[in-house]
Amino acid sequence: MKTIILIGANGIVGKAALTGLGKHNVITAGRSTGNYDYQVDITSEESLRKLYKDVGHFDAVVNAVGVCEYANFTEMTEKQWMNTIQSKMMGQINVVRIGQEYIADNGSFTLISGILNVKPLPYAIADATTSGAIDTFVKCVAFEMPRGIRINSVNPTVLEEAWEAHGELMPGFQPVSGTLVGKAFERSVDGFITGQVIFVDA
Ligand SMILES: NC(=O)c1ccc[n+]([C@@H]2O[C@H](COP(=O)([O-])OP(=O)(O)OC[C@H]3O[C@@H](n4cnc5c(N)ncnc54)[C@H](OP(=O)(O)O)[C@@H]3O)[C@@H](O)[C@H]2O)c1
Repeated sequence: MKTIILIGANGIVGKAALTGLGKHNVITAGRSTGNYDYQVDITSEESLRKLYKDVGHFDAVVNAVGVCEYANFTEMTEKQWMNTIQSKMMGQINVVRIGQEYIADNGSFTLISGILNVKPLPYAIADATTSGAIDTFVKCVAFEMPRGIRINSVNPTVLEEAWEAHGELMPGFQPVSGTLVGKAFERSVDGFITGQVIFVDA
């Protein structure tokens, strides 16, 4: 049994990830207070460092957080770009950059991207761009991870659980179940792969 920090555990992707991590000791973390074992803001280096110090020993980090802003490219402001970059890109990179100082030998990081970097949609340029950045980050940084630490990203299409909210804006997309997405997280945490983008598409 591994001890896993699941960041964003109450979100749609976080709940999906949890379905694949059932045999482990899962410590939940998220932004709001009172809803998680630990409170953390992934856009704050100080907050991430406190989380890792407070948890102590852990074997894996699964991050299911990446807040994105949506607008047409011609209308998207720099602030909207920076909000997306600070959460979905730099937030996740900092989860790893700071986390590698604390994680156990042979541990693993699993990040979240999303299918829009290979299947573009209107309004989603910031999500697509930062998802592409995360997929590139895991592929390349895997060569530099110390102490046998692995890193992968899960790149799902829209989940069935999100279809009611987003389906209308995604013509021709086929949603996948949260359970199937959970298996991708399980493969990352319990397998031996590293530097991989695990696509979950239909
Ligand atoms: N939903 C989909 O179908 C789907 C498909 C592919 C990719 N994705 C990607 O998956 C990621 C998560 O999407 P989602 O649909 O699961 O979102 P969601 O349901 O809105 O959940 C977001 C989660 O992130 C937490 N959170 C937000 N900002 C945070 C911060 N600064 N620090 C720590 N935790 C924070 C929230 O915590 P609180 O509960 O405390 O607010 C919540 O647990 C996004 O990047 C999205 O693009 C989603």
